[in-house]
Amino acid sequence: MKSVLSERKALHPPNIDDIEHRELPGTAAQAVRDLAAEIARTSTHSAVNASEPLADPALLAQISTHAGDLPAAVRATLRPPATAAGACIVRGLPLSDSEIGPTPPDWQTAALWSTDPGRARGSLELDIAMLLLAAAAGEPFGWAGQQDGRLVNNIVPAAGHEFEQSGASSTVLLSPHTEDAFHPQRANMLMLACLRNPESVGTTVSSIRRVRLTRPHQDILRTPTLPILPDVSYGSAFERAEAVPVPTLWSEPGHEDDPGSLTLRFDPAYTPLDDACPEFREAYAQLERELERVCAMPALRPGELLLIDNDVAVHGRVPFTPRYDGTDRWLKRVNIRLPEHPRRAAESRENGYGQQIVAPFPPAPPRQAAPAREVRNERNGAVDDRGSIGHT
Ligand SMILES: [Fe+2]
Repeated sequence: MKSVLSERKALHPPNIDDIEHRELPGTAAQAVRDLAAEIARTSTHSAVNASEPLADPALLAQISTHAGDLPAAVRATLRPPATAAGACIVRGLPLSDSEIGPTPPDWQTAALWSTDPGRARGSLELDIAMLLLAAAAGEPFGWAGQQDGRLVNNIVPAAGHEFEQSGASSTVLLSPHTEDAFHPQRANMLMLACLRNPESVGTTVSSIRRVRLTRPHQDILRTPTLPILPDVSYGSAFERAEAVPVPTLWSEPGHEDDPGSLTLRFDPAYTPLDDACPEFREAYAQLERELERVCAMPALRPGELLLIDNDVAVHGRVPFTPRYDGTDRWLKRVNIRLPEHPRRAAESRENGYGQQIVAPFPPAPPRQAAPAREVRNERNGAVDDRGSIGHT
């Protein structure tokens, strides 16, 4: 997969038309930035933890309270992806390169710089803006074991991590994966915000609702066979003996016969495939090939948000050569829980390898879930346009 995606990057421009696009209205976008700036300005007096303002309950209370005051267009635009692509790009957040300062060399430095009065305040303001947007979309949360529990993660290339399967890598393909696939409380929706991407490095997005799989392959992949282990960003201090097999594919409850409701949980880099029988490995390999075939590769631009339905689409990143000179690609990531998207009851029995979420926001009011028919019938992404999943 690495070589093929690398070749695609070289041969083809990113096919962003494969993904739904939305525009955040100018007045709504400016309201987010203005409110974030106001909260950042006043938070300096109330921060309990000066090194991590986003852990300050008073600051979070301000964000939670005032997110509801934003124009209704913010919540409407930040609704979950509505097409079979399982992802959408939201444009329109005002952002200038000069306000964010240089790209930090790692996430730890990003956190330090965001509260350094001698540096640009843009990063902290943008963190607050990210939380306002995420709170309008659903319930933002973090992980106690990842980036010290921060609710807004910085994704930058870090020296010494070039070949990892993590957001800190660069020179290898970041394989398509479900975010935090190992955990039953993983995000329903992922928000990736682009601050800087001067070389137009492509983010990969592949939807399970665009793949073609035979019914036997589907049936094999629906059978809990292998565990998915925590990725390297959580360290290695987990108990492998706790691993439980999970299904790779399943359908949304109540829609078992509807190909437009297929969902997945997929992270090959952290799945012990050698432990499976040849039939499972073949079905899994076919799924990998299909996810590669349907892969879209948007090159995010500053101010763009990529929303990913974490049950429908897997994401990754093409390889690139880091500069480590303050101009590298820089994304911010927020995990979002959507109460209207409950998971299979069986997942509630998983222990998540001891990893705990950090969820300081009150539960978000549920949206009315989009009907499955809406998901199937959109342009260009419709599973049933090709009559595709299964049955061949
Ligand atoms: Fe990821």
